[in-house]
Amino acid sequence: MKKQVLTGIKPTGRIHLGNYIGAIKPALGLAENQSYNTAYFVADYHGLTKIHDPIEMKELSYGVAAAWLALGLNTDSAIFYRQSDVPEIFELSWILSCFAPKGLLNRSHAYKSMVEDNQNGGREVDSGVNMGVFTYPILMAADILLFQTELVPVGKDQIQHVEIARDIAESFNKQYGETFVLPEYVIQEETSVLPGLDGRKMSKSYNNTIPLFEEPNKLRKLINKIKTDSSLPEEPKDPDSSDIFSLYKEFASSEQTEIMRKKFHSGIGWGEAKAELFSVMNSFMKEPRDRYNELLSDTEAIDQILQNGAEKARKQIIPFMREIKQKIGLYH
Ligand code: TRP
Repeated sequence: MKKQVLTGIKPTGRIHLGNYIGAIKPALGLAENQSYNTAYFVADYHGLTKIHDPIEMKELSYGVAAAWLALGLNTDSAIFYRQSDVPEIFELSWILSCFAPKGLLNRSHAYKSMVEDNQNGGREVDSGVNMGVFTYPILMAADILLFQTELVPVGKDQIQHVEIARDIAESFNKQYGETFVLPEYVIQEETSVLPGLDGRKMSKSYNNTIPLFEEPNKLRKLINKIKTDSSLPEEPKDPDSSDIFSLYKEFASSEQTEIMRKKFHSGIGWGEAKAELFSVMNSFMKEPRDRYNELLSDTEAIDQILQNGAEKARKQIIPFMREIKQKIGLYH
């Protein structure tokens, strides 16, 4: 039996280096591996918890889809779809919500941090919190559990969500017998704290990201903005504690990485290190960037790909959905 792998990206911002290194790159690796079934999707209804402008929603969703395709996702081997095209996910989401203790969701990081912000700002605890934000982990559990997913490649910030999916699956299984597979998260350990422009974790919410498909000139400018310390060019530097180096090694060959490591030890100016980072990243991204722009100029073709994917997805999950409904006693 092949293991099922699944991951999604919500369209709430442009795809950035953190998305690529934390989720897309490992997921593409798994899609190439014959021992896995892979399902990757645009989590547009998760995006709706934040994005309430239809034009923005459309642009960001196509952006996420085009990113996967431009980076080489093979849609013959991986199932690639839009979450909103698979209605069974939302049906399951309701069922699961009846097995999700409210207290569990109260403790979800994303919700808790909104509550804390409100408290610090002297507002009502739930001010600005819609129910989509609150039940976000349940919808994510439905995404995962409907596909009998074993492995979920995600960034570190999503660990809690996968754990919540496990908890919900366990409580359903306890009531109705073995039904859902308990999923595990897959984290890229070495790169799990990818730094953003300001040295904090790269994240849309900190507004410190480097968009992956940025045009060369802007890309160079953004790379030049990455924070570095005030050491002089000739001073030896520790590559392993350098943000520049940790980004460099994601795009460079292993030979290039070793040469750069030596340069750090013998002393390299930050300006030069940044120029080298730009150079490897820019040449790595050249083809994907062209493909990305080309894909975005024909969104109907993207729709077609996603719809084919949704059909495949539904073929896979509809029998299981029926089994779930039987278990809860909706029919015999
Ligand atoms: N919550 C994920 C994020 O913000 C996106 C997501 C939605 C997801 N459903 C998922 C990831 C299922 C993995 C599995 O990045």
